[in-house]
Amino acid sequence: MSTQQLQTPEQHQVSPDGCYTLGQFDSSVCQELADRATALKGGATPDAKPGKALGLLFLNPSLRTSASFQRAAARLKLELVNLNSQGVWAMESEEGAIMDGTKAEHMKDAAAVLGCFVDVLAIRAFPAGVDLEQDLKDPVLHGFAKHAGVPIVNMESTLWHPCQALADWATLDQHQVPKPAKLVLTWAWHPKPLPHAVPNSTLCMAAQRGMEVVVLHPAGYQLHPEIMAEAHVLAAANGGSARVSHNRAEALDGAAVVYAKSWGSLDTWGDAEAETAKRAPLGDWCVTSKQMPQGAKFMHCLPVRRNVVVSDEVIDGPRSLIIDQAENRLHAQTALLERILS
Ligand code: CP
Repeated sequence: MSTQQLQTPEQHQVSPDGCYTLGQFDSSVCQELADRATALKGGATPDAKPGKALGLLFLNPSLRTSASFQRAAARLKLELVNLNSQGVWAMESEEGAIMDGTKAEHMKDAAAVLGCFVDVLAIRAFPAGVDLEQDLKDPVLHGFAKHAGVPIVNMESTLWHPCQALADWATLDQHQVPKPAKLVLTWAWHPKPLPHAVPNSTLCMAAQRGMEVVVLHPAGYQLHPEIMAEAHVLAAANGGSARVSHNRAEALDGAAVVYAKSWGSLDTWGDAEAETAKRAPLGDWCVTSKQMPQGAKFMHCLPVRRNVVVSDEVIDGPRSLIIDQAENRLHAQTALLERILS
């Protein structure tokens, strides 16, 4: 696998005023957004933008992101264009493609048209999960950013889920988790190989917040080396650290936060049979109360497979932050849209 496959940090800013990844913003901006999210949660009045329009384009399913963006739009008095994959034409993303197959519309046309109707366009586009090199280019987000002519907000792409990360930053603040505290991002077993957007974003968010981050996973489930490199840069700039561990007891010792997430192996990307065989012996990678350190908070972005990724006892326990994380999506996105549209 090449280590030069990802966009460089400068290129992350796929739209001059939009949001592709939190890492494109200074830490001070992230903190301002998290603080504003907390203020909005506490009852501050949103800075409404009547006459402006928000486009939502979901090429994959969503519960939290969809509901929270719709509510954020209502709070900001935005007009909404809400589209999903069932309601739009199948889209071609390749430049110069001869479109004689099943795809009826080119992304560049769809992007330019939607850009005529809205002031900011938010997009969800998961990886196809077939060709790693192609997925690492995050083609839909970058294609829309190139052709829409309006700021783009990433509602979860191949590589990043910045709105989840911003909500999680605010959640950590609201629960007074100290900046230098230890956050363990732990891999968990799941019946399917899942995308890397959330683990990438959690790692980099916690590093940028200045935390001691440990990525805990079994051998063969490493995050992309360039994502780890970016986490190291963000950690170094913000007084934090980032490292990998394969040892559950060692990694979890002293953790203030256990953030569970499953993700697929980069080594078997697109090969379902090989991935299934690889994870078959890893079924005990489930977060139970036995693994939870004394006093540690539990986090997960949802949706979650209960009693597979995490036991009911942990996720329903008093130190689980999952509902706050989800609620903070509304406030974080309201804060983000206020800023983009100001
Ligand atoms: N966490 C999150 O993005 O949830 P949805 O996939 O339901 O939007």
